[in-house]
Amino acid sequence: MSTAKSRWADDDPETEAIIAQQKREKEAKRRAKAEKQRQLEAKAQQTQTPETNSHPANGETGPPKKRRRLSNDAAETTGSDADAPEIAPQKKQSTALLRFPAREWGTCRHVDNFERLNHIEEGSYGWVSRAKEITTGEVVALKKLKLENSPDGFPVTGLREIQTLLEARHPNVVYLREVVMGNKMDEVFLVMDFLEHDLKTLLDEMREPFLPSEIKTVLLQIVGGLEFLHSQWIMHRDLKTSNLLMNNRGEIKLADFGMARYYGDPPPKLTQLVVTLWYRSPELLLGADKYGPEIDMWSIGCIFGELLTKEPLLQGKNEVDQVSKIFELTGPPNAQTWPGFRSLPNAKSLRLPSSSSSATSSGKIPLLPRSKFPYLTNAGLSLLSSLLALNPTSRPTAQQCLSHAYFKEDPRPKPREMFPTFPSKAGMEKRRRHHTPEAPKRGQEAPQLDFAGVFGGAPGGDTGEVGAGFALRLG
Ligand SMILES: Nc1ncnc2c1ncn2[C@@H]1O[C@H](COP(=O)(O)OP(=O)(O)O)[C@@H](O)[C@H]1O
Ligand SMILES: [Mg+2]
Repeated sequence: MSTAKSRWADDDPETEAIIAQQKREKEAKRRAKAEKQRQLEAKAQQTQTPETNSHPANGETGPPKKRRRLSNDAAETTGSDADAPEIAPQKKQSTALLRFPAREWGTCRHVDNFERLNHIEEGSYGWVSRAKEITTGEVVALKKLKLENSPDGFPVTGLREIQTLLEARHPNVVYLREVVMGNKMDEVFLVMDFLEHDLKTLLDEMREPFLPSEIKTVLLQIVGGLEFLHSQWIMHRDLKTSNLLMNNRGEIKLADFGMARYYGDPPPKLTQLVVTLWYRSPELLLGADKYGPEIDMWSIGCIFGELLTKEPLLQGKNEVDQVSKIFELTGPPNAQTWPGFRSLPNAKSLRLPSSSSSATSSGKIPLLPRSKFPYLTNAGLSLLSSLLALNPTSRPTAQQCLSHAYFKEDPRPKPREMFPTFPSKAGMEKRRRHHTPEAPKRGQEAPQLDFAGVFGGAPGGDTGEVGAGFALRLG
């Protein structure tokens, strides 16, 4: 309220006194109301689960600060869809209700507003096409969600995909424009910006791998997008080259949030059936049901390796074979490099060669064999080795990864505008299916795995291979 005097007040001292009295009363009322509100808020906070309510500020190093989940949803039961979608734990909420940003929601438009141009890909959770918005002529990607596996309503993966994508607005995350509907309730489509390539198809089509300077630009953008997700307490849980999109301006965007979810600290119990096998971390393979964003960093290591060689780094035929392939590359774990791995459910049956305990007595992360990556600099090899550290706590966070010396040494990351362009398969024709494993299906039981055969379990095995300095028998 203006402090200027009433034009009439000077003329009449009595009126002036009344106005002043009214002002005082009004002020007292306002103060009492504010105090009441403050007390109510304090009370509400006391009854709420305490949390520090912070997520890492830019420039801060180290992992995100400790805080608790606010969501009271049941632990994510193995392979079941029983778990309710969770709320963003970093933001104070008075209830544990599913939260959608209000401004984004209204009546969904009909998919008829778009004209289908060509089919792009059928993946595990949806069909993707290139389409044109009829009124504007803009080209978009339409992803039809697969809803058939959820008799009791909208599948949690679809909800999560929409919720996390709406929250994750970042230059390195695919832009979800809107959600549109078909004629039936189970016809739900995500309308996204269209990008010409996914990295898997592109690497398959390229004759030579990316140049070192290009690999840096690609990797920096992937990790930049991931750093943002983790700062929002979102784990992607299915990072792989087919879920990384690239346009003809050298921009990379993380896509496919069908597996993404909010996480907390301490970590909630979650299903281990996440992440496509070849990109799945050893703690998940060994059955950890409490895990964190480090699983995404492992996938980043696998993607880094794939960018270097154009081939997926660890192509296991099944879970046991995947563990064998990992240990063959990294060397087996020991009590120094990965204290506590023995207590993981599937590690009980794991038989390691006796030499493994003396392999790395310093507890330092062992460097991966240089012979596998002959063109990588020492700094590059050290980054790759740390991303592929068996012990999740030894892996760098996305933020630490971004400031690694590898990105600062020559050759410097190539400016995006200097990136070569490639013919777009997605833009022209139906693509052949990649012969790569798919993300785990929700609703499946996590298998009880027997790792007894990973290292010389059964005597007289005939499928022995010599790995990184130790004999390996596949289970
Ligand atoms: N916005 C997009 N622009 C262009 N292609 C896309 C886009 N989104 C997805 N795709 C293509 O469709 C494929 C499958 O999409 P994705 O979201 O990964 O679905 P799924 O959950 O079925 O794996 C991707 O690998 C990519 O080739
Ligand atoms: Mg996908």
